[in-house]
Amino acid sequence: MQILVLHGPNLNLLGTREPEVYGAQTLPEIDAELSVIAADAGAKLVSFQSNHEGALVDRIQASRGDGTRFIVINPAAYTHTSVAIRDALAAVSVPFIEVHLSNIHRREPFRHHSYLSDLAVGVICGLGANGYRLAVRHALESLGAAGA
Ligand code: DQA
Repeated sequence: MQILVLHGPNLNLLGTREPEVYGAQTLPEIDAELSVIAADAGAKLVSFQSNHEGALVDRIQASRGDGTRFIVINPAAYTHTSVAIRDALAAVSVPFIEVHLSNIHRREPFRHHSYLSDLAVGVICGLGANGYRLAVRHALESLGAAGA
């Protein structure tokens, strides 16, 4: 059972990027924790970060044939701009949860709209890295993973 975690642009800088907004944990630290949560439930977690919209679209398309059963995605700035990522998620029809570290609704108006939210199983924002952990736990539970 495989869960795919996707991180959009600038999230490779977590830990040093505006830590007061996005927290002090680095992306490798977050991904390592998520892998342990999945492994404890007998599942595999694959993570992928890119600063490029097309690379994220390619990775979403690839999820159709690689055994991915659930996607957790923080599209970062592409949340607010990308019809292409929306269309890719709609095309593969793998259930997904949208995650944001910050509460996008407490921030600038241009961050309030997401091109993905109405397609998502659910949206978690404002809980920092805990949002990823809760999303992975929910994915495992909804897939009926052992120990989830
Ligand atoms: C973000 C929120 C986005 O508005 C922003 O562009 C990001 C990160 C978050 O996790 O809070 O890069 O998705």
